[in-house]
Amino acid sequence: MASVFAFGVAVVDFVFLVDDLPDQGVKYRANGAQIDGGGMAASAAVAVSRLGGEAHLGARVGTDFIGEVIRSELEGYNVSLEFVDSADGGRSSYSAVMVDDCGERQIVGFSGAGLAGEPGWLDAVPSHDAFLADTSWTPGLRKTLELARRHDVPGIVDGERSADFETLNLATHLAFSSQGVLAITGEETVLAGLKAMAEVHTNWLCATDGANGTYVVRNRKIDHIPAFEVDAENTLGAGDVWHGAFALMLAEGKGEEEAVQFANATATLRCTRGGGRECYPTRDEVHSFINSNS
Ligand SMILES: Nc1ncnc2c1ncn2[C@@H]1O[C@H](COP(=O)(O)OP(=O)(O)O)[C@@H](O)[C@H]1O
Ligand SMILES: [Mg+2]
Repeated sequence: MASVFAFGVAVVDFVFLVDDLPDQGVKYRANGAQIDGGGMAASAAVAVSRLGGEAHLGARVGTDFIGEVIRSELEGYNVSLEFVDSADGGRSSYSAVMVDDCGERQIVGFSGAGLAGEPGWLDAVPSHDAFLADTSWTPGLRKTLELARRHDVPGIVDGERSADFETLNLATHLAFSSQGVLAITGEETVLAGLKAMAEVHTNWLCATDGANGTYVVRNRKIDHIPAFEVDAENTLGAGDVWHGAFALMLAEGKGEEEAVQFANATATLRCTRGGGRECYPTRDEVHSFINSNS
């Protein structure tokens, strides 16, 4: 079984289902609510596990109640937590998530306090078939990409925000969200941003763009690999599922094009489902989804 080590955010999401996303300082009523595990790397790790891969998480939590919730939820999905650091007296991350009738979401996140300040505990991480890191904490991102280099396996960045050039250059694969591309380049469209990134980054490069699917840079040209047309129920975690699926495919030795197609299908299928991580697709479900849509 291929193994993926994912490093980055692990949080608890307090999710509220609303008619419209809040934009005023008044009281809103939720039509439903649930408490879910979230965080880019943690959700990617759950996606890997649900797809039948071996999932290992590196993250920073505190010794508080939220930290306990994060751990127990992830253990339920068979995610190895050996390299999740629990800082004494630290406060773990949690978020308020609003999901509207169209499945669009709005997130307010608290990124925790008093968490580990140095990534030294990651030095002991053994070899895996692929490493994935989000851009939430640069020291951990850099350490994860160095591990990938040391073991000569794919080192993938889930880029949601700006990160320094040298760190990103350690990656074999940069897979940004459109929001991340706009943040790092200051451009106004994802295509312009991706072109600007391709000027300076020689790594394999792509951007996920919600219902549009994924734009992949090849020889400085941009190819479009579309997602599948569906009625989205909930896009929460779509990008995280995408990155988990993509990393697992590379860990299994698949080519990038196949990995993007599989990741698009896995993430799209996730969007058709209303629930949290328990509804992340299994591999059989993804294969039948691809077969019935091609
Ligand atoms: N409404 C949607 N319909 C179909 N596929 C979607 C939809 N939203 C997201 N996806 C799939 O999920 C992937 C990642 O979503 P995206 O919104 O770009 O990431 P993030 O959640 O990180 O912002 C997309 O590339 C696409 O394959
Ligand atoms: Mg994302």
